[in-house]
Amino acid sequence: MNMKTKVVLLIAGFTILFLITCKHMPNDVPTPVASTNNGNGNGNGNVKDSVCFSEEILPLFISNCAKSGCHDATSAQGGYVLTSYANVIATISGSDLMNSLNGTNGFDIMPPATSPTALTTAQINLFQKWVNEGMKDGIDCLCTIDTNNVTFSATIFPIIQSNCLGCHSSSIPLLTNYSLIKYQLDTGRLYNAINHAGGVPPMPLGGSQLSLCRLTAFNKWVHNGAPNN
Ligand code: HEC
Repeated sequence: MNMKTKVVLLIAGFTILFLITCKHMPNDVPTPVASTNNGNGNGNGNVKDSVCFSEEILPLFISNCAKSGCHDATSAQGGYVLTSYANVIATISGSDLMNSLNGTNGFDIMPPATSPTALTTAQINLFQKWVNEGMKDGIDCLCTIDTNNVTFSATIFPIIQSNCLGCHSSSIPLLTNYSLIKYQLDTGRLYNAINHAGGVPPMPLGGSQLSLCRLTAFNKWVHNGAPNN
């Protein structure tokens, strides 16, 4: 390699480094403000400023609303189809959504009072934040889970809560606490369901697979022996 080539490579290298650094800077530096995302899988102290549709909102729609007889494409109760970003945006306004979740302005509260599951205040607040931010789509949102520091209480249970409990707090297999989750894990079925590894229906049913970052966190926890920590 002659001198000129070396200089060119060096400049190219610095330029790439510079571009990468700049591109990632705004997202990678945690801001020291309180997270409003507790209880939805992000309660690990990391903070990001806006709601991530694919990781935080869509799983709540899939697990709580987009069910058969309710708001899947076939049932479309009230005209609302809550199965994907495109369908949500096409069929429900932010104000109808929030009135439904709060049971205000003549709207019946959703999920219905007769439903075995209700949304938590944190989940409703997250919907409100998403509406306030303009109901934005987001697919490759920054992972806010610290996959190097995974615990059952701070990482795994919140993932189950937002992605699975809309169905599995009332239908079999119940996944509402550590021992029920561990029991399903020991059969091998839970791992296969989450990893879409075959032999069992892929979960979440009717939704897309957990984001890579959640899947990584879950699998690390399993490889650590699935501790109740
Ligand atoms: C929209 C509702 C819904 C959601 C959301 C959902 N499930 Fe399920 N799940 C079901 C139904 C219904 C079955 C039974 C399906 C069957 O047996 O054909 C099931 C079955 C299972 C089974 C048992 C599979 C077997 O055959 O033994 C496991 C394990 C499971 N789900 C885990 C999960 C996990 C983990 C999540 C979240 C990541 C999740 N599910 C999300 C509806 C759901």
